[in-house]
Amino acid sequence: MDHFGGLVQPQSMIREAIVTTLDADGAPHLTPLGYRMIGEDVLLAPFIPSRTLDNLRRCPAAVLNFTDDVRIIAGCLTGRGDWPTRPALRGPVPRLADALAHWELAVVSVIEDAERPQFRCAIVARAVHGEFTGFSRAQSAVLEAAILVSRLDRLAPAKVAQELRYLQGAIDKTAGPREQLAWDWLLAAVQAHAQQPSHAADAP
Ligand SMILES: Cc1cc2nc3c(=O)[nH]c(=O)nc-3n(C[C@H](O)[C@H](O)[C@H](O)COP(=O)(O)O)c2cc1C
Repeated sequence: MDHFGGLVQPQSMIREAIVTTLDADGAPHLTPLGYRMIGEDVLLAPFIPSRTLDNLRRCPAAVLNFTDDVRIIAGCLTGRGDWPTRPALRGPVPRLADALAHWELAVVSVIEDAERPQFRCAIVARAVHGEFTGFSRAQSAVLEAAILVSRLDRLAPAKVAQELRYLQGAIDKTAGPREQLAWDWLLAAVQAHAQQPSHAADAP
């Protein structure tokens, strides 16, 4: 059986989750990360450098947390990574307390790469904790804005501003308090980045 109701899952299809790994001091580290399926296994590909990468090398286990609370995605990118966790079922890495579901992963192999090593992981346990009640456009707008914020060093400020203007429409129409807060955190991060001396001259 596959994880997608029998549908063939294209290898290129990337889905987004919150990944928990263990810091050197044993504390959980949460970060939004894309993942792909390779058969029954999960492929994680953290860029060099990143804390998630260092953590996976030190402790080859992780949890994929699935949540519709976009504050967690925006929070992890804006210095608010301290979300409540709970012990996992089997693995050493805690899960997100508010996850709707989670998968516990054990790294089975690593394909080294100068930019982005790939960690192939087996799913060793999984659980469902809550009901998924559908997407809102504001949730997907926050997700897209979070991607922009995670790439501020590589994107032209004018492009970021243009995309945020488009996404703002979905926020205005469908955001609840969680989405609005997440959006505000992301906009503040964009503004703070633009005000850094090396970027201020480029600001639109
Ligand atoms: C939706 C989403 C997906 C992301 N996917 C990845 C990814 O697949 N690999 C990656 O290195 N960073 C990804 N990032 C960026 C990370 O969340 C983060 O900014 C960066 O990797 C540093 O993470 P660290 O906390 O592990 O150092 C993603 C960000 C978002 C918002």
